[in-house]
Amino acid sequence: MSARLDKLIEFLKFPSISTDSKFKQGIDDCRDWVHAQFTEMGLKSEIYKTPKHDIVVAKNQHKAGRPTLLIYGHYDVQPVDPLNLWTNPPFEPTVRDGKIFARGSADNKGQILAHMLGVKEALADKKDLGINLSFLVEGEEEIGSPNLDAFLESHKDILKCDVVAVSDSGMVGPGIPTLTYALRGIACVEVKIKGPKMDLHSGVYGGGVRNPALAAAQIAASLHNEKNEITIEGFYDGVAEPQQWEKDQWKSLPITEERIKALVGVDSLYGEEGYSYLERVWARPTAEVNGIGGGYQGEGSKTVLPSEALLKLSFRLVPGQNPKDILEKVESHIKGLDLKGLTVNVEMGHSGTPYICDPFSSFAKLALSSLEEVFGKSPCLIREGGSIPVVESFKQLLGADTLLLGLALPDCRCHAPDENFDLDCFEKGIALNKALIANLAK
Ligand code: BES
Ligand code: MN
Repeated sequence: MSARLDKLIEFLKFPSISTDSKFKQGIDDCRDWVHAQFTEMGLKSEIYKTPKHDIVVAKNQHKAGRPTLLIYGHYDVQPVDPLNLWTNPPFEPTVRDGKIFARGSADNKGQILAHMLGVKEALADKKDLGINLSFLVEGEEEIGSPNLDAFLESHKDILKCDVVAVSDSGMVGPGIPTLTYALRGIACVEVKIKGPKMDLHSGVYGGGVRNPALAAAQIAASLHNEKNEITIEGFYDGVAEPQQWEKDQWKSLPITEERIKALVGVDSLYGEEGYSYLERVWARPTAEVNGIGGGYQGEGSKTVLPSEALLKLSFRLVPGQNPKDILEKVESHIKGLDLKGLTVNVEMGHSGTPYICDPFSSFAKLALSSLEEVFGKSPCLIREGGSIPVVESFKQLLGADTLLLGLALPDCRCHAPDENFDLDCFEKGIALNKALIANLAK
């Protein structure tokens, strides 16, 4: 364990935050470290420059007639704020209760490293893996992979594969092997709301001039009706209902609404009427406010009518919806509201198409038997509410389905303070990678 853990600690120490240019050095150092690991284990590794953060591709010697597996992951991480809520500093990995705490531990460094170490150990055992293997590790996942599709498009030849494996999602619970066969898509929007040309005294002008912060709340509130359905015209067009076998399977999972409430610390769950919790987060689209701001945020009160306000929205999409169409509908919804006295600018952010694949395909069966071998239990089949847009690009551009072999536990706190990765999941992930390669080679 300890050599494996040491590697994980090294990886987690890089502050590879992709969204913040102050961390460019952390990103580049981390990229070099990943490249060095591949080279050290005997793969041919190459760094490909992109306009922002680079891509590392590593391969063994490919031979004709063998199946080709592409393993994808990312070395970039989310920002760490709010910093004061971390028990240990986010880039000083600390082990407590069988888990390692650090930014990126679950998302995605621990998970991609499990694949890397699995391959490293398999190569050390016997020089020949018996399959063609390629790794693709990028540094822009957390900012929407702006350069990845173009890279896939222009490097189809070197990335050609039969199937992709990605561990960048979750497990149902500790020790419960999980295969994910669907992800939601995403579409992000930023709304800038401008009112008077300067901040105004809210007593002198309030009641006579429109308040942009209040308008931000009105725009946000316009997205849902009293049943928590999304009110944007045509938003649900094409949305596919989950199949009966899925609903049955989900009911039998050890994920109860009670457990979710306890995990996140709320006394009741909330969402679209007529659907269970799992149906809502896995198979229904949503509209969320990720950020809302404007006006005075400091201590005490300040009677100001702010001159501007901001809304950051994102929409999770399910099979049957496409981000471009949704973004157009969102824009016309906002433009159709009463925006008198304001200048409202709607800006489109990044997006990703939803993904669904056949969990009974021959590759999926191989993944299921590898999971069963390692965990000693038959795996759960789930969808996930999160998004990994590149997975649909693999299908479109490389013609390959993805086996989503998530290793993160429900309490991993990804994107939040005290993000952590369970060390048993790390060990199992390494074993899983070896089993998958061995089964593919057969
Ligand atoms: N690993 C996550 C996605 C995820 C989490 C999938 C849990 C399944 C279960 C990934 O790194 C991520 O956070 N993606 C972003 C989207 C991206 C375009 C910024 C997301 O889902 O918000
Ligand atoms: Mn991730």
